[in-house]
Amino acid sequence: EETGTAAAGGEGGGDELVRVGFSQLGAESGWRTANTESIQASLTEENGIDLTFVDAQQRQENQIRALRDFVSQDMDIIAFSPVIETGWDQVLQEIKDAGIPVVLVDRTVDTTVEDPFVTWIGSDFRAEGVTAGEWVAENFPDANIFELQGTLGSGAQVDRQEGFREVVGDDAIVGEASGNFTRAEGRTAMEAALQAYPDTDLVFAHNDDMGLGAIEAIEAAGMVPGEDIAIVTVDAVKDGMQALLDGKFNYVVECNPVFGDQLAELIQQVHAGEEVPEQTFVEETAFEQADIDQAFVDERPY
Ligand code: AHR
Repeated sequence: EETGTAAAGGEGGGDELVRVGFSQLGAESGWRTANTESIQASLTEENGIDLTFVDAQQRQENQIRALRDFVSQDMDIIAFSPVIETGWDQVLQEIKDAGIPVVLVDRTVDTTVEDPFVTWIGSDFRAEGVTAGEWVAENFPDANIFELQGTLGSGAQVDRQEGFREVVGDDAIVGEASGNFTRAEGRTAMEAALQAYPDTDLVFAHNDDMGLGAIEAIEAAGMVPGEDIAIVTVDAVKDGMQALLDGKFNYVVECNPVFGDQLAELIQQVHAGEEVPEQTFVEETAFEQADIDQAFVDERPY
């Protein structure tokens, strides 16, 4: 699926627009939808950007194809949110050889290519895992934990797991499975976990959507989520905040998807050859049940 503004030209000083190819990794979660909306609302002609946006549907081969298309279209800037960390060496080298600056968004890469990107903006996934782990260690110190992991090999999965386990310790984890950051796969993984690890009393889900899937599985098994089995998640999208308010989630670590304006500014700076920070971490917080009310949930913008 590809959307984009028509090539600027003619009147309106269109020649000055920065041509940006953005490969979004998918539309797997509420977080991702909000992130795409923020990017599309900010990378606009009003902000001096001619955006070509391509959704890879959570498949690396689709992303690599989009990146190669951006090279052949001689984009001014290539931006992308990599679905997993590895497997980018060749295409990143091709982009580098073409002399196109890369702006990395949200997730990270693990590559042998030197200086593969100019700047990165996103969340501190490791810190999110640590925050979740600290809350669990304080409130459920003896919990048998089932870890519902995001897409295996993604920066968000690898770093959240590392940060979380660093605090709670490997021995606290009774089982793990990936739900690929989606509600449907989160539910399936939780259904299997209830059979395989019946002593589970807390789920750490790497995002809200999988946590919401876990709620469905736990309720279908006749148990009460948030009570019989506690649930800790990451993201804090509106549906997740509602589950927290309803007592079905116990703690939610925020992952902020709304950084389109900051991204647009970074892109302009990179294009102008200005100095930019190598990393920009977006601001985020965390929520307990008592921290929010219905008005807060209703006003949550995503
Ligand atoms: O990379 C960010 C993660 O990706 C979000 O936590 C998750 O919801 C999304 O799918």
